Amino acid sequence: MRSLNVATIRRDFPVLEEKGIIYLDNACMTLRPKQVIDAIKWYYENNCACSGRSLHKLSEELNESIALARETIKKFFNAHNYELIFTKNTTEAINTVAFGMEFKRGTKIITSDREHNSNLVPWLALQSAGVKHFAVPSAENFEFDLESLHKMLDNNVKLVSVVHISNIDGYRLPAEEIIKLSHDFGAKVLIDGAQSAGHIKVDLKKLDPDFFTVSAHKACGPIIGCLFVKKELVDELKPLIYGGGTVSNTTLNSFELINDYRKFEAGLQDYAGIIGFGEACNYLKKVGMKNIEKHEKVLTAKLVKAFANIDNVKLVGMHNPKKCSGIVSFNIEGLASHDVALMLDEARNIAVRSGKHCAHAWFNKNRLPGCVRASYYLYNSLGEINALVEEVSKIAEIAENIKK
Ligand code: ALA
Repeated sequence: MRSLNVATIRRDFPVLEEKGIIYLDNACMTLRPKQVIDAIKWYYENNCACSGRSLHKLSEELNESIALARETIKKFFNAHNYELIFTKNTTEAINTVAFGMEFKRGTKIITSDREHNSNLVPWLALQSAGVKHFAVPSAENFEFDLESLHKMLDNNVKLVSVVHISNIDGYRLPAEEIIKLSHDFGAKVLIDGAQSAGHIKVDLKKLDPDFFTVSAHKACGPIIGCLFVKKELVDELKPLIYGGGTVSNTTLNSFELINDYRKFEAGLQDYAGIIGFGEACNYLKKVGMKNIEKHEKVLTAKLVKAFANIDNVKLVGMHNPKKCSGIVSFNIEGLASHDVALMLDEARNIAVRSGKHCAHAWFNKNRLPGCVRASYYLYNSLGEINALVEEVSKIAEIAENIKK
C-alpha cells in the first residue's frame, strides 16, 4: 500500500483544471478521468453500432469491446459466481430484485434504518402486496446493531437488504457479519454498494451476498449501474422489462427467455456507458483500491479532528474514521444546511451537498432537518480539506455573531 500521488491523479480529471473547483460532492457523482471519457468518445466517434444483433464488422468490433468490459468489471469485483446485469443505476438494480423476486404475502424484508430511499421505497411499495418491512434500529452511537438483526431474523425473512457504506455519513456497515447471520436463517442478502464500489476493495466471492448493486457514476464511470446476481438465483428472478435481446424465440402467443443476464437487458443498451464502466475499473485498479481506501481514511481523520475544534460545528451521524470512509457530514448551529452549502460555493467554489440526501427516513427519525455533506475521493487533496475547514470556520464565526 502506498500513499496516493494526488497531484498526478488530479491531472487525469479535466474538469478540475477547467473549473478550478473544490469538488466535494462525490457521494452524489464522481468526476471522470480522461481514460473513461476517451472510452466513451471511442464508441461515439469510432463505432456507434449495435451489439448482439447484426453481423457486420462494426457490430462485431463492439461485441468484443462489450465482452471485454463485462469481463473487466467481473474481475474487478471478483464476481465470477455472479451474473452481471447492466442497469441505469443502483436504484434500477434494487427495483429489479424488489419486483423480480417472488415475495409472498406475509414475507418479511429487513433493512437498516439508514437506507437511501432507493433501498427503502421499493420495499415499502411492496407492503401493498402484503410484504412486511422492518428496519433494524441503529445503536446509540449510530453503529449497525447485529444483536437487533439477530432478534428480528426468523424463517419468514426472505431478504435482508442493507447499504454497504452509508451515503449519510460514510459509515461502513459490518456487511460480512450481516450476510453470515442472515444466511444462517435462510434469508437472501442484497448489499447496496452505491457508495462502496470504487471506494473500498469489494471481493464478492469473499463477501458472498446474493445480490450486489453498483452505480458506476459514483466510481469514476459514466451514468450506468449494475446488479450482480448469484448464478443460482437467475432462474428465480423475473425481468423488470421485457423485450428484444431477452428471448431465444417467440410465437404470437409465447416467448422463451434466455436464462442468463440477457433476460434482464431488454432493448439496445448504453454501449458507451458499458465500455466506460470497464475503463473506470481499469483506472481504479491501476491506482489501487487499498490506496484509495487509505487516502479517504486520512482525509476523514483530518476533517473530523478539525471540525471537533470548531465550537458551533456539530458532526452528524457516525464519524469514527476507523469505521467511515469518504464522507463527513455536519451542521453549523443556527444556519440551515442549504445556506451553508451556498456560502461555501459562493466564497470558494467548494461543491458539497446539503439537505436530507435522499435518506429522509433517517433524518426524520433523528429529528434533523438535514446536514451539509462533504464527500471526497482519490483526487481530493489535504489542501482542499484545509480550505473547507477554513471556510467552515469563517461561516461558523458569522453564525456565532448572528446569535449574539
Ligand atoms: N445517492 C446520491 C447522494 O447521496 C444521490 O447524493
